[in-house]
Amino acid sequence: MTAKNADIGLIGLAVMGQNLVLNMADHGYNVAVYNRSTDKMKEFVEYCKNTEPSHERVIGHADLATFVLSIKRPRKIVLLVKAGTATDLTINALLPFLEKGDIIIDGGNALWTDTIRREKELRAKDIEFIGSGVSGGETGARFGPSLMPSGTRQAWVSLEPIWTAIAAKVDPVSGQPLEGGEPGKPVVGGFSCAEYIGPDGSGHYVKMVHNGIEYIDMQLICEAYWLMKHLLGMKSDEIGKVFEEWNKGELSSFLIEITADILQQKDPMSKEFLVDMILDTAGQKGTGQWTAANALELGAPANAIAAAVYARALSSVKEERVAASKILKGPKVTAIPESERKATIEAIKNALYCSKICAYAQGFQLIDKAQVAYNWKLNFGEISQIWRGGCIIRARFLQKITDAYALNSRLKNLMLDPYFTEEMNKGQEGWRKVIALAVTNGIPAQGFAAALAYYDGYRSADLPANLLQGQRDYFGAHTYERKDKPRGEFFHLDWPEPGRPQIAIE
Ligand code: 6PG
Repeated sequence: MTAKNADIGLIGLAVMGQNLVLNMADHGYNVAVYNRSTDKMKEFVEYCKNTEPSHERVIGHADLATFVLSIKRPRKIVLLVKAGTATDLTINALLPFLEKGDIIIDGGNALWTDTIRREKELRAKDIEFIGSGVSGGETGARFGPSLMPSGTRQAWVSLEPIWTAIAAKVDPVSGQPLEGGEPGKPVVGGFSCAEYIGPDGSGHYVKMVHNGIEYIDMQLICEAYWLMKHLLGMKSDEIGKVFEEWNKGELSSFLIEITADILQQKDPMSKEFLVDMILDTAGQKGTGQWTAANALELGAPANAIAAAVYARALSSVKEERVAASKILKGPKVTAIPESERKATIEAIKNALYCSKICAYAQGFQLIDKAQVAYNWKLNFGEISQIWRGGCIIRARFLQKITDAYALNSRLKNLMLDPYFTEEMNKGQEGWRKVIALAVTNGIPAQGFAAALAYYDGYRSADLPANLLQGQRDYFGAHTYERKDKPRGEFFHLDWPEPGRPQIAIE
């Protein structure tokens, strides 16, 4: 590579950045790299030289000016820096060297409203800005992530060949990820999990909802594990084997697969199962919380996603929980008899699958609200397609979601697709049984329960909100609509003062 012909540049050589660079280089692209700490850049370039077949395509730069000038125009510069202030600082540092039509691509987990702002500010300077969700962790970045880009169509056309090449590949019909990919020998062919999402912040928005779904998906799996452990007294490796089995069927997914591995892993230090040694306090970087908060703002009923965020928060107050466990009473766990063991495991599987369907239904319902609020026109079929491979929530059943939106692109709720309706009708009995068992035995299962409350609420033609409207009208004259009048006509009753007799009706 000469000093001036890099196909793309990347700033930010932490784990994700390094792996994305190697992925692009493996696909034949010359990549200019820059990092705030020059030592880290040099270390990475040295590492490439020693171990990576495509190392000649990775060229390090110690200053921003030569970095920018080495990239072919219109320049494409990927930022993989810590989302937030660092992104703005990096953009500002880059600006003096950029020219009209150059494209900055933010691959961090940025807040979508920041992306909207940045796109607008840069557009005023004739610089294109693509906010791209990147999912799949380290391995995804290296051998095929799921990519959710947004910005102008023009900018996307320029980035598309690279993004499509490096993304995960799935079989176009079955949706199954194409296996393979090793340094220097990337996977080629198949359907690429990179698709234009829409304008301004929509890519980061969709990535955020992906993470919200990721949170509840993980929480549901944890609840299934916990119920098997406490109701059935199963050891970690036994539970791991159950997940291994589940991974062969409709629940097959990356998260189930790694759960099976994690549960069977022994701890090199204590020789116990590692999972039993890991402290039960969940961390979070905030994207799940953003999803839940935005669902509240937009009035989308994403209670299961929120439950997952609350469950992490509750887990984090470990010391308080330890103290409370000695004060607050609960029922004694009644062990499930051996004869009911198989049926209980099957019921837990039903609870997991039905709740998972609710989680996705909530995620898409939220995206639907957002596209109205932001005037985006998003393609749900394509979103589910690019989640089939590469990302953390990749799962066999995403093909079913893809099929559902192919059948009806205006589907109101995923649960109303014939396949999912049947699955929920089949699984709901076991799901209820599991929640009843959790409640009577005092085992927390807030994800399963929130999802069931959503399901039961959604399938109820009538809800007690009639009384709620009465209450609102009583104390605040907020008015109500009537069952016997057309929608949109509002009524108010001059209620008697509290404690006074009812208004007499002749
Ligand atoms: C992905 C993930 C990733 C996320 C981590 C950690 O799609 O690759 O969603 O973007 O940052 O999973 O998230 P938490 O720290 O919030 O659990």
